[in-house]
Amino acid sequence: RDFWLDDVQEVLFTEEQIHERVKELARQISQDYQEKTPIIVGVLKGVMCFLPDLIRKMSIPVEVDFIAVSSYSTETRDKGVVRVVKDLDLPLMDRHVLFVEDVVDTGLTLHYLLRNLRARNPASLEVCTLLNKNPRRLINIPIRYVGFEVPDYFVVGYGLDYNERYRNLPYIGILKPSVLFGKD
Ligand code: PRP
Ligand code: MN
Ligand code: MG
Repeated sequence: RDFWLDDVQEVLFTEEQIHERVKELARQISQDYQEKTPIIVGVLKGVMCFLPDLIRKMSIPVEVDFIAVSSYSTETRDKGVVRVVKDLDLPLMDRHVLFVEDVVDTGLTLHYLLRNLRARNPASLEVCTLLNKNPRRLINIPIRYVGFEVPDYFVVGYGLDYNERYRNLPYIGILKPSVLFGKD
């Protein structure tokens, strides 16, 4: 059943640990956004597991929207260039916006998108990320809600991919270096 087990070196967060933490985040967010009906904005595709789990555990009304950005080469991304390929449908003007990511790594994607969203004049704009990979941060950005701090490993699962695979792992694990470097 665990067809991916060969490729994972170590499980960082089990399905249970993730669900417990997501429940806590949802409770905290629900408290902070009472009577506010926030717009939850997710960036595709990494949030594909986290965002639906998070909003289903919230106890407040929310609206949901998605934005998709281009996956440029690492070289281009290092310059902080991100292009929106699918924009939001909802206007953010005067709304309370919670931006949701699966992982903040260098912070370049987040930096660009926050600037983009802020230009739409929301009433407030906060960030929630499941994983915070702080050791690799290039731009410091305050993050209101963090699920887990993670070390500088290549992590996959629960939405996070390597070459588009492993998103459907129910847990978050560290990929074996042999998979990353294409050896056996
Ligand atoms: C990943 C991740 C974040 C971003 C973080 O997305 O989901 O969106 O990179 O990296 P950064 O902090 O260094 O900018 P990716 O571009 O892999 O697309 P995906 O979500 O479709 O996998
Ligand atoms: Mn992403
Ligand atoms: Mg990716």
